[in-house]
Amino acid sequence: MKKKSESHRIAASDDIEVSTYLELARELRGEQPVVEPKLPPSERETIVVLDFGSQYSMLIARRVRECHVYCELVPYDTPWEKIASLNPRGFILSGGPASVYDSGAPMPLPYIYESRLPVMGICYGTQAIAYHLGGQVTQGTKREYGHTILHISAEDCPLFVGLPSSLPVWMSHGDQVIELPPGFKPLAYSENSPFAVIGNDSGIYGLQFHPEVVHTSQGKAIFQNFVLQICGCQGNWTPANFIAESVGKIKKQVGGERVVCALSGGVDSAVTATLIDRAIGNKLTCIFINNGLLRRDEPERVFSTFKRNLKMDIVYIDATDRFLERLKGVSDPEKKRQLIGNEFIQIFEEEAAKLGKIDFLAQGTLYPDVIESTSAETKAAAKIKSHHNVGGLPAKMNFTLIEPLRYLFKDEVRQVGLALDLPEDMVWRQPFPGPGLAIRIIGEVTREKLEILRAADWILMNEIKNAKLYRQLWQSFAVLTDVRSVGVMGDYRTYGYLVAVRAITSEDAMTADWARLPYDLLARISDRLVNEIPSVNRVVYDVTSKPPATIEWE
Ligand code: XMP
Repeated sequence: MKKKSESHRIAASDDIEVSTYLELARELRGEQPVVEPKLPPSERETIVVLDFGSQYSMLIARRVRECHVYCELVPYDTPWEKIASLNPRGFILSGGPASVYDSGAPMPLPYIYESRLPVMGICYGTQAIAYHLGGQVTQGTKREYGHTILHISAEDCPLFVGLPSSLPVWMSHGDQVIELPPGFKPLAYSENSPFAVIGNDSGIYGLQFHPEVVHTSQGKAIFQNFVLQICGCQGNWTPANFIAESVGKIKKQVGGERVVCALSGGVDSAVTATLIDRAIGNKLTCIFINNGLLRRDEPERVFSTFKRNLKMDIVYIDATDRFLERLKGVSDPEKKRQLIGNEFIQIFEEEAAKLGKIDFLAQGTLYPDVIESTSAETKAAAKIKSHHNVGGLPAKMNFTLIEPLRYLFKDEVRQVGLALDLPEDMVWRQPFPGPGLAIRIIGEVTREKLEILRAADWILMNEIKNAKLYRQLWQSFAVLTDVRSVGVMGDYRTYGYLVAVRAITSEDAMTADWARLPYDLLARISDRLVNEIPSVNRVVYDVTSKPPATIEWE
């Protein structure tokens, strides 16, 4: 067993309430008593997920949202003032890589107990609670990883409503609780964890397993029980409520001023623009820049959807020549990305300036970007690619930002898009990168190669849609490599391009798996690519996941 460091631990006895011994501990350390936190009045109830660094933290937030309860993921040491402004209804403490006995191990702040709100720890979160409140945690003799069966011993516990007495769960931990803090009881066990679920009468629970991962098949019921039964949330966070709330907020923020929004044709910027349009109507102007790197028919489709169907004020700029001129002779992926990003900003600035005085810029930033950039500020992250996002204009521009989707995941954006009556093909469009086809052409981008790739992409999309797989795949696309190989067609030798087909499944693009497309479908795609595009004579299928590969080839 590791040596205990008592620095962040609170001695407790059975008959003292949590908040009382937290006060005692503070007194012993000579600190000022903390004033009881007061909850501010706010309409939207929030479950706060305190992030202790688990790779699954974002999944926890998604699971809570699936219960129609709003949820935010915040760093574990977020001050109470910020938490209070969220109108918290309960806390979930994520797992994490630390051990409670590490020096400087992350610990929750006392407000999680003092606020008297329900708390659910997961893995490290449970160990932190147990240790904090006077229990004992030890390194397990072996790391428990994978499926195990959970046996419920406290069947009347509200966490287990509707669950069978035994269920499969997913474990991934080294340390575990070996002695319960005062007032806590074991509620469920597994073969290797006598305290697989623990809890006390004040609504503090700890789970050793991970209910958020798909391998815990009934995890959703546990989240529902926690957020609806135990925290008492109403579960009324729906797309319709989100729309009403966002429209109200935008109206209040913008007043009578004007807003500009860059459209990409993707669902994020479409939903952003539509929300703003609902709020302020003709005070919104959208700018759609055709960079010449879009897919076949795409500029026309985007323009007509917004102009004709949605009747928005839209400025369409065909900047193909400008972009292709800049890309001449450039084959380095990072250089391409930067050139495209800079050119886009320049054109956007020029066009926005022509519109006269505009104070606000609307962007379709999503929650994973927010979480990634927050953690990138705190973690030493290696730079893999400089993503250029049509919605992601630089902060130095002289606009106040409006980001109505800042706290939504992609699938939630799609639900909002449907509730806004956006056309289905726009709502379900697979993500498409800001630098467009330029990062799917390996090497220099030329008009000729763009036409080849457009033809390949068109065939691939057609086959994927006919096979009814389009929505199931996160992305499916063709890559025009700079490899040429020898082939034979009729009685002639060919020397043509190698096209790579990539199709992946993913929840958020941070990780991805290559899709197991049926062989017959791959055969049809390959036949059509080599038969219908004269300069292509070979097709390969990319069978690499992310990591170690990335989704795009450049
Ligand atoms: P990677 O290739 O980094 O891609 O695994 C992750 C996701 O991001 C998309 N992607 C981009 N999106 N601007 C964007 O707006 C970019 O520069 C960019 N690069 C990659 C990619 O298509 C995938 O969905």
